[in-house]
Amino acid sequence: MLRVYRVDPINPSPEAIRIASDYIKRGDLVAFPTETVYGLGADTFNANACLKVFKAKGRPPDNPLIVHVSSIDELGKVAIDIPDIVWQIVNRAWPGPLTLILPRSPDVPKEATGGRNTVAVRSPAHPVALMLIKYSGTPIAAPSANKSGRPSPTLAEHIIEDYKNDNIDMILLDAGSTFFGVESTIVDVTRNPPVLLRPGPFTLEELRSLFGMDIVVPEFARGLGEADAALAPGMKYRHYAPRTRLLIVECGDYDMLVKTIHDTTVDYLNKGMRVALLITKETAELLSTRYTEISELPIILLGYRGNPYTIATNLFDSLRNLDRVNVDIGIAEGIEERGIGLAIMNRLRKASGFSIIKC
Ligand code: TXA
Ligand code: MG
Repeated sequence: MLRVYRVDPINPSPEAIRIASDYIKRGDLVAFPTETVYGLGADTFNANACLKVFKAKGRPPDNPLIVHVSSIDELGKVAIDIPDIVWQIVNRAWPGPLTLILPRSPDVPKEATGGRNTVAVRSPAHPVALMLIKYSGTPIAAPSANKSGRPSPTLAEHIIEDYKNDNIDMILLDAGSTFFGVESTIVDVTRNPPVLLRPGPFTLEELRSLFGMDIVVPEFARGLGEADAALAPGMKYRHYAPRTRLLIVECGDYDMLVKTIHDTTVDYLNKGMRVALLITKETAELLSTRYTEISELPIILLGYRGNPYTIATNLFDSLRNLDRVNVDIGIAEGIEERGIGLAIMNRLRKASGFSIIKC
C-alpha cells in the first residue's frame, strides 16, 4: 500500500520522518522530496532494498542510482580515492543539487550502482531529505521517483499518478512542490578534465568557477543525441517523455521564434491535427495579440521567459499536463541555453525524442 504523510517542507515534524526512516531501516521504500525532484529511496547498503527500487520503477538494472548523504563526512562511507579538490568542492557546494561520480566504496553493493565501480553521490538541500537520511542512519540510494521513462515527479500527486495501480508497500512524504523542478547536475570527476553528464540547477557557469577549470560538455549533455552508455548509463534511455508527441521550436531570434511557433501550429492544424502549445507567458501574450486564430488552442504555460527558474519548476508538470489535454501533438518553445536554460533544453529535447525545428 502507498501511505502518504504530509510534512512541512521547512520544519518537518519528526513523527512522519521517524515512520519513514523505519521503512528505510527495514529495507522498504520511501518516496521523499529533495530540492530538485522527488526521489524513491532505499538503504544504500542493503542490496535487496536497492533492487526493490528498480522493480518498483521498472528501471533497467544497468541504470545506477544516486546515493544521498546527509553530511560531507558521510561521503567517505560510499566513495574512495577522493581527491582533495573534490573535498573542497563538496565543502562549498553541498548540500545542493550537484551529484559527483566517484570510485565506489566496496561497502556499496553493486546492485545500487548498476554493476559499476563508480558511484554517484550528492547531499540534497531539502530539510525533509536531510532529516530522513539522518533518522535512517544510512545514506539513501534514490533515483527520481517517477516510473521509468515518465517525467520526474515535482509534486506528490505525480507519484500517486504513477504508482496508484501498484501493489507496493511504500511511504510517500508529501512536502508539496520541489524547489528547482529539474534533477541535479551530474559531473564525472573520475575524468580529467571533469565531464558534465547532466546539466541541472547547479549551472555550468557556476561549475566552471567552482572547479577553476574547464568542464567538458558532451553533445548528449545538451540533450542532442544519444549518450555513450559507458560514460552515462542512464542517458541512453528515452527520458521525461510525455505520451503525446512533442516538438520543440528553437530560434536565436525571438520574433522568428514566435512566428515559427505560429506557422508550425497552423501547418499541423491544416493537417487536421489537434495541437497544444507549451509556451512562456510572454510568448502566449504575443501570440494572442498577433494571431487571434490560435488563441483558442490549449495553452500550457511553462513560466516566464524572463525568469527561466519558473520554467524549471513547472517543466515536468507541464509535460504531464500535455497528456491531459487530449491533443495529437504539443509544440514547445525553446529557450536560451544559459544558466538553468541548459538543463531545461536538455530535458525538453530528450522529452521530444529529439524532434526539433530550428529557425
Ligand atoms: O536531483 C536528482 O538527481 C534526483 C534526486 C532524487 O536526487 N535523482 C535523480 O536520479 O534524478 P535519476 O533518476 O536521474 O538517476 C540517476 C542518474 C542516472 O541518469 C544515472 O545514469 C546517473 O545518475 N548515474 C548514477 N550513477 C552513475 C555512475 N556511476 N556513472 C554515471 N552516471 C551515473
Ligand atoms: Mg530519473
